[in-house]
Amino acid sequence: MITKEHDTLLKALAGKRVMIVGDVMLDHYTFGQVSRISPEAPVPVVEVIREEYVLGGAGNVARNIDALEGKATLLGVIGNDRDGETLIALLNEHDVDIRLVHDDRRRTTRKTRIIAQNQQIVRIDRENAEPLSNTVVAALLEYIQTHGQHYDIVIVSDYGKGVVTRPIMDALRALTGPEGRKPRILVDPKPQNYDLYHNVDILTPNAKEASEGAGLPCVWPHGPAAVGAALFKRLNCRDLLITLGPQGMALFEGAEHASHIPTFARKVFDVTGAGDTVIATLALALAAGATLLDAAMLANHAAGIVVAQVGAATPTPEGLRQAVQDRPAPPITVLPAAR
Ligand SMILES: Nc1ncnc2c1ncn2[C@@H]1O[C@H](COP(=O)(O)OP(=O)(O)OP(=O)(O)O)[C@@H](O)[C@H]1O
Ligand SMILES: [Mg+2]
Repeated sequence: MITKEHDTLLKALAGKRVMIVGDVMLDHYTFGQVSRISPEAPVPVVEVIREEYVLGGAGNVARNIDALEGKATLLGVIGNDRDGETLIALLNEHDVDIRLVHDDRRRTTRKTRIIAQNQQIVRIDRENAEPLSNTVVAALLEYIQTHGQHYDIVIVSDYGKGVVTRPIMDALRALTGPEGRKPRILVDPKPQNYDLYHNVDILTPNAKEASEGAGLPCVWPHGPAAVGAALFKRLNCRDLLITLGPQGMALFEGAEHASHIPTFARKVFDVTGAGDTVIATLALALAAGATLLDAAMLANHAAGIVVAQVGAATPTPEGLRQAVQDRPAPPITVLPAAR
């Protein structure tokens, strides 16, 4: 059933602004078929049928915000190369405010997956993940310090390629808007960077990332509570949303109040990018004034929609409306305690 509150919230997503800071990537898919082994080495020969480029990383988060009719500003770094141009062209197909800094000394991050007979054969990564130059960091900081206070919500989409560093996180935490309001900072973490995320508002790790940050296994049903407690202790974050794949989500509203939201997915075909959909929907719903619980539920619905589709799917307000309408009110329960 769709309630008046749901309806109001879904309508309120339109036009809400979110700033995304993070690692943009180009996802490149090469589809082909294999009918023989190479005479040169014991490897399959892939005859290419089709190629596709899609937005990855922070770019995919921006694409999700656009699909939900929000307005994303995307801050990140690309190289001065063809892949960078392709990335910009893809972003231009969406209504995204592009604030990408060009770095002559880096290449645009590209991940190529070669897929034949519905199976990935190999992935080829092209990237530089070394620290950014001072000039590039200064350009990122300049945008954050000049415009950051105009956003209610900031997403940090950290894929560990170098954009998310201490000066950037400090600048985000220092932002203060009108009447002393501080933008809420949501982080999709990279385990190697946990020490950068102190005092942020919400972290949205998946089970593996949460487990690595806590140094504890995140096995259902008792693992997430223990992992959550350890992450609050380590980071002093305000809230925490651990996505648990087929188990849905564990939502911690502060360290003391944890709930379990089961997945709303009915069919599961392709889970790639579900995490990007979760943080995008969560952020936009919060920007539209939702409570954290309502925002997490909506994000769970959105994830349920995208995992049911093959390829780079995104949720729309209409799709969300249908999903909320079609499903019975989900049983939100207390998260099972740690043992
Ligand atoms: N196998 C599944 N069955 C049902 N729902 C799923 C499944 N996998 C993912 N989901 C939904 O998607 C949400 C996010 O998934 P997950 O925990 O896999 O994030 P993630 O690992 O960060 O994803 P990715 O990094 O691939 O974008 C879950 O909270 C759940 O709602
Ligand atoms: Mg993820």
